Amino acid sequence: EKGGFDWFMLKEIDEQPQAVADTLLGRYAADGSLQLDEMRLSDDELRDIDKVIIIACGTAFYAGLVAKYAIEHWTRVPCEVELASEFRYRDPIVDRSTLVVAISQSGETMDTLMAIRHARTQRANVLAICNTNGSTIPRESDAVIYTHAGPEIAVASTKGFLSQVVACYLLGLYLAQVRGAKFGDEITAIMHELESLPAAIRRVLDDGEQVRELARELVDKRSVLFLGRHAGYPVALEGALKLKELAYIHAEGFAAGELKHGPIALIEDDLPVFVIVPPRGRDQLNEKVISNVQEIRARGARTIVLAEDGDEHVVPYADHLIRLPRVPTLMQPLVATVPLQLFACELADRLGHDVDQPRNLAKSVTVE
Ligand code: BG6
Repeated sequence: EKGGFDWFMLKEIDEQPQAVADTLLGRYAADGSLQLDEMRLSDDELRDIDKVIIIACGTAFYAGLVAKYAIEHWTRVPCEVELASEFRYRDPIVDRSTLVVAISQSGETMDTLMAIRHARTQRANVLAICNTNGSTIPRESDAVIYTHAGPEIAVASTKGFLSQVVACYLLGLYLAQVRGAKFGDEITAIMHELESLPAAIRRVLDDGEQVRELARELVDKRSVLFLGRHAGYPVALEGALKLKELAYIHAEGFAAGELKHGPIALIEDDLPVFVIVPPRGRDQLNEKVISNVQEIRARGARTIVLAEDGDEHVVPYADHLIRLPRVPTLMQPLVATVPLQLFACELADRLGHDVDQPRNLAKSVTVE
């Protein structure tokens, strides 16, 4: 049943190219425009939306954080991302022109369910992004986008995460489409970028041995940091969460730009720090993050750098270099998360932990 893998989690990590492809499947109408056929919200309703609030827990929350970058960039509609467990207790500003997006792999997480119930009492439109057909959260929502990633057995979410990001991107593109604009060509171009991801993810998986070796080398570490910027910031948070959940070691993710405002004080000799380097582009973020790598290495950190093919500037400052396929900035989370999943999985396995059923955790938490 584990398909030759030692753990369901490894199997599910390996299924990610297919999961992403399946999330993308069947999203075109006959005229080549985007369609989301399980959507029960009309285009008119979507045109009236003036704010998106994404609510979710755990890994699904990080998928939401990634999605914010894309949704705001493509639609120019403000998008907030909030932990479901915080949402209803702070008297959030929600009304009929708010689109509340609940992301949940299981569709049964109680915190998320209570948050959408609150949103509906405020007459918000609620859309679920969910992997489990007929589960409670989509049933109680006005609309749903199913991720179609297939069942996820391991408690720690992997293919769930990637497919949630892709589904959120589809939502962002669809919102851009219904809200008009001469955006058509751009939507098609972005769809092509998404459609090229399964091959890119497969390549990262094929390079997995390097990450497994690194996990063996770092097996006695008690603390690991992760740095990322822009869409790479939630990837850093997700990398740290995976390590906490599976290996039970202290791990924290930081926004690379915040380094100088505090976290740099944590850097000491041989502390492993993963850094997700943004693709080279016009925004200078690549250069800025590389200078962060330089700074922490000068203070003794062991730098584990994830950087795209052909990025040579970072090479002198990387103790370990994990290559990523060249993809646009907004697509990078979908390739950069994969080595971090493999790393956490291998490290936990080395430590003798139950990778699929970590202590104290449940696949879906049905209490608030
Ligand atoms: C948790 C799981 O408690 O619930 C996480 O351990 C998961 O892995 C989170 O990300 C949210 O679950 P769901 O099903 O709502 O996406």
